[in-house]
Amino acid sequence: MKHLIDIKDLSTDEINHLIVVAQDIIKNKERYSKKCEGKKIATLFYEPSTRTRLSFEAAMYELGGNVLGFSSSSSSSVSKGESVSDTVKVISGYADIIVIRHPKEGAPLVASMKSDVPVINAGDGGHNHPTQTLTELLTIQCEKHRLTDLTIGICGDLKFGRTVHSLIAAMARYKNIKFVLISPKELEIPDYIRKDILEKNNIEYYETNNLEKFMPNLDILYMTRVQRERFFNEEDYIRLKDSYILDKTKLENAKDDLCIMHPLPRVNEISVEVDDDERACYFKQAKYGKYIRMALILDLLGIK
Ligand code: NCD
Repeated sequence: MKHLIDIKDLSTDEINHLIVVAQDIIKNKERYSKKCEGKKIATLFYEPSTRTRLSFEAAMYELGGNVLGFSSSSSSSVSKGESVSDTVKVISGYADIIVIRHPKEGAPLVASMKSDVPVINAGDGGHNHPTQTLTELLTIQCEKHRLTDLTIGICGDLKFGRTVHSLIAAMARYKNIKFVLISPKELEIPDYIRKDILEKNNIEYYETNNLEKFMPNLDILYMTRVQRERFFNEEDYIRLKDSYILDKTKLENAKDDLCIMHPLPRVNEISVEVDDDERACYFKQAKYGKYIRMALILDLLGIK
């Protein structure tokens, strides 16, 4: 039985295959509309979510399956003190596949050890978010037509942003990828990403607090929100929250084919005036999320 807890659970071939299937789904939606008839997905969300939960649910409905679950811990037995292990043990008797988001790093891994059905990590604390990364890879493939030879700027909260950690781990596998990591000092990438991924694989990367300086070099600019819920005090959040605001002026020196991405939700980091720029890909990116999740559900359920 396969789970997806960390992007490293997938080989590069498996990732590439999911992208091919997702692209086929986009072209031939009707061929997939009954693939999951009689199957159920459970979405167990102990943390807020809009896109991730609803795109998983939409994905299952579009495959002809059904959905059950909860969208906040207060509406489930967690509020009575039930452990994740017990909840998952029970739910794996009700559903064919489980998606879980949890504020504690490692909770989905624990869940996968107790589950009788495949478990997907939909975000664990400030750690990982592998299905968001699959979304980014499909977006990059569809918009740039390649996953190699790219200079990727990642800007904002690189410390707590779980999508950033999974994205670096995934893109570091492809040829000739360079990273420009743009953040205030306090929100730099965790040391394990620097050592175990970037340095270990000899990836070229720069760490800077200057977005404008590197803008002309970038093929992709991945903006992120400062992760308020992971801060120990509100003062630090307030001081750092508007460190970077992407607007039209800052894009003046950017490439014509820059791809501007953001996992969303956006707070202030991209000015709404950028939404009309044809380089803005973040709303398209959210749409791609549904298709790659359809491909992932089929794969984990072993449906061809
Ligand atoms: C991200 C998350 O939950 O980590 N959102 C998402 O899944 N699209 C990013 C964020 O919350 O900033």
